[in-house]
Amino acid sequence: MKRGYSQSPSSSTPPPSTRFKSNPEGDSQFLDDDTTKNFARKVADHYSRRTNQTLEEREASPIIHLKKLNNWIKSVLIQLYARPDDAVLDLACGKGGDLIKWDKARIGYYVGIDIAEGSIEDCRTRYNGDADHHQRRKKFSFPSRLLCGDCFEVELDKILEEDAPFDICSCQFAMHYSWTTEARARRALANVSALLRPGGVFIGTMPDANVIIKKLRQAEGLEIGNSVYWIRFGEEHSRKYSDDDSRCILLQKFKSSSPFGIEYVFHLEDAVDCPEWIVPFNVFKSLAEEYDLELVFVKNSHEFVHEYMKKPEYVELMRRLGALGDGNQDQSTLSADEWEAAYLYLSFVLRKRGESDGAQRRGGRRKNGKMNLSKDDVLYIDN
Ligand SMILES: C[S@@+](CC[C@H](N)C(=O)[O-])C[C@H]1O[C@@H](n2cnc3c(N)ncnc32)[C@H](O)[C@@H]1O
Repeated sequence: MKRGYSQSPSSSTPPPSTRFKSNPEGDSQFLDDDTTKNFARKVADHYSRRTNQTLEEREASPIIHLKKLNNWIKSVLIQLYARPDDAVLDLACGKGGDLIKWDKARIGYYVGIDIAEGSIEDCRTRYNGDADHHQRRKKFSFPSRLLCGDCFEVELDKILEEDAPFDICSCQFAMHYSWTTEARARRALANVSALLRPGGVFIGTMPDANVIIKKLRQAEGLEIGNSVYWIRFGEEHSRKYSDDDSRCILLQKFKSSSPFGIEYVFHLEDAVDCPEWIVPFNVFKSLAEEYDLELVFVKNSHEFVHEYMKKPEYVELMRRLGALGDGNQDQSTLSADEWEAAYLYLSFVLRKRGESDGAQRRGGRRKNGKMNLSKDDVLYIDN
C-alpha cells in the first residue's frame, strides 16, 4: 500500500466564507478540527468493519429488495448519463458495488476514492476479479486507480491533476457525510467542480432531508422508523430549549439553526449504523451553484421509481435485478417497510457550467490507471 500524499496546511485554500445563518450556541458548524476528524473516522470504521457478504447471505438480508431497488436507481442514473469512453470519478466508492454498472456503460477510465481502508481493499480485489469464491468474478474492461482518504477534506484536484478532467463524478449514498461543517460541504463541491470538465455531470443519491424532517415533525419524540430502519436525533436537540414538547423543540431547532452539522444516528438493518447529517436540499443546490454546478433534476426515490418505470428498458432492468420480484416464478417483492425506507432517499443530477469542446474528453488521464491493482497501487492520502 502506498502511503503517499500528504496535504500541507498552507496549501489549502480556505473555501469561501458563509452566507448561511448559523447558531453559535453549540452547532456543529463550530466543531473543531479534531471533532470533525473523529466523526469521519467513526464513519470510516463503521464501513471498514462491514465484511463482504456471500451471495446467500445477501439474498437472506431483510432489506434485499431495498438494496436491489437502490442498485436499480444507481444503474438508471449511470445509464442515463454515462457515455462510452467516459472518465469517471467515484467519490465514496465503497467496496466497488458500482463497478459492474460502469462496465456495462463501457466507460474508459475509473478513479475511486473512499475513506474506509477495508472498503477500498474490497474494491481493489473486486476490480482485479480475484474476489474469493463467494463473490462474482469479473474482469473489467477499463483501467482504474484507487485512493483511500477523506474526499470531503482534501484538495482532490491537486492529487488528481493528471487524471482530470472527468466526464462524470458520482457520489452514491455518501454526500451527507460531507455535511458536518460548511467547510467540508464546500470542499466536497469544490472538488467535484474542479475535477469535472465543463458540461460534465455530477450524479448522486443521498437522504432526503424534507422527508426525514416531515416524518420527525409527525413523530412523538426524537425518533422515527419501522422494522428495517430507525433515525434518532440526539438529546442535545431537546436540551437547548426549555420546552417539554420535543416536536416543538425540533421545529424550533431546524428553523433557526445552521444548515450544517445537524446530526442524527441512522440504523438500517443489515447495512448502516452510524452518524449522518441532514442535507437541506435548497442549501445543497445554492451552494453547488456557487461552484458552477447547476441542478438538472432532483427526485425522491418514490418519484424516481414511478417516472422511470414508465420506460420499458428500465422495467426490464428492474425485472432482471429482482427488486420487485422477477414477475415470473419469484413472487417476492419489496415490503411496505422497505418501500418506506426507500422514501428516505433522493437522487440528484448537476451539470458543470460551460460547454465542452469535445477535445477535453480525452487526454493523458489514463496513464495513472492500471488493469490490475496491487496493494501498493492504492494511494493513501493523509489530511
Ligand atoms: C453507504 S456507503 C456507499 C458506497 C458506494 N457509494 C455505494 O453506493 O455502494 C457510504 C460510503 O461512503 C464512504 N465515506 C463516508 N465518508 C467519506 C469521506 N469523508 N470520504 C470518502 N468516503 C467516505 C464510506 O466509507 C462508505 O463506503
